[in-house]
Amino acid sequence: MAILVTGGAGYIGSHTCVELLKDGYDVIIVDNFYNSKPEALRRVKAISGRDFKFYECDILDAESLSKIFDENKIDSVIHFAGYKAVGESCQIPLTYYNNNITGTIVLCEVMAAHGCKNLVFSSSATVYGAPKKIPMTETDPVDIEGVTNPYGRTKLIIEEMLKDLYRSDNEWNIALLRYFNPIGAHESGMIGEDPNGIPNNLMPYISQVAIGKLEQLSVFGDDYPTHDGTGVRDYIHVVDLARGHVAALGWIGKKRGLDWFNLGTGVGYSVLDIVRSFEKVNGVTINYKIGPRRPGDIAVCYSDPTKAKEQLGWQAQRGIDEMCRDTWNWQKKNPNGFDNAD
Ligand code: NAD
Ligand code: WQD
Repeated sequence: MAILVTGGAGYIGSHTCVELLKDGYDVIIVDNFYNSKPEALRRVKAISGRDFKFYECDILDAESLSKIFDENKIDSVIHFAGYKAVGESCQIPLTYYNNNITGTIVLCEVMAAHGCKNLVFSSSATVYGAPKKIPMTETDPVDIEGVTNPYGRTKLIIEEMLKDLYRSDNEWNIALLRYFNPIGAHESGMIGEDPNGIPNNLMPYISQVAIGKLEQLSVFGDDYPTHDGTGVRDYIHVVDLARGHVAALGWIGKKRGLDWFNLGTGVGYSVLDIVRSFEKVNGVTINYKIGPRRPGDIAVCYSDPTKAKEQLGWQAQRGIDEMCRDTWNWQKKNPNGFDNAD
């Protein structure tokens, strides 16, 4: 069965492609390398020991995308391609709306024109906005006013758009996957997260402090109503997240229509829990200071992952120590990410 993976050279996409290839799926990757490197694809091949087709293509380019569907018999699409930096989305919102929303429209139009109506979409816990209750369940209401940034709004708008698409044509099968905080790397240390410039997210920041590329982690606030005052999140190992996509394909194969699922562990860790775990597991010291809160941050965010367990038959397996160990293994083996490889 052939699966088209948009954004398959990226962080979550590359890990998902490894799992798909391992499970015997044929994989066709589409990426424009906006936020990724060709070396990631060479490594996906090396880890999995299997080849796949790759097209360097922008998903906004309907004609090129259409040719890919003409040339291949595609059963389902996993759609990762998009921009994801929250801060940047506030600076250049139209760029985000165009790439994320128009990109998804173009993709779905091309899919429909080729009779391919099975889609797994990368959504985000950010669609919940400030949580009404903890843990967050899929029945929690979401509304556009509650989402705190343009990036998050693109995700919510796409979710709503895909619901309308399904209402208009019940032949579609669509899994909307709301990821919590993906971290970690493949246990081989050959692929992992390779952010451009100074990382926005906690885990890559910690590992760059550990390797000496950054001097000090600033902990954004220690006066939140949490066990140690620092922000609490639902960190999920990227390989578990990748397995969630394989599970979603199985669900789609049963022709279940459209539904949405939290992909998280259901466990919340604070910033200082992560720092301490990283230090303990890896035998390193993280230089940090307590700084001010980051505007827009919430105190606590973690999932109730029961629905994914019951309906997708999926559950995260890896704990925080493995997340810290695998991040550090990747960082140590690739101090400059994929940079010197191409
Ligand atoms: P990433 O930036 O590493 O991967 C995205 C990939 O898509 C990149 O390889 C990029 O080059 C490609 N891409 C972007 N626009 C494209 C276009 N127009 N045409 C073709 N390729 C394009 O990001 P990631 O962390 O792997 O995230 C994957 C998806 O999951 C994104 O949609 C993101 O919004 C979503 N998501 C990520 C997180 C997270 O914390 N990483 C959390 C929730 C949701
Ligand atoms: C985690 C915790 C920070 C950096 C973001 C997006 C979300 C989703 C995942 C895509 C918070 C603290 C961070 C630092 C710190 N992405 N922190 N010092 O904000 O939960 O979620 O990524 O969909 O949409 O918003 O993740 O890793 O930035 O922060 O203290 O240098 O670490 O305050 O408590 P966040 P994060």
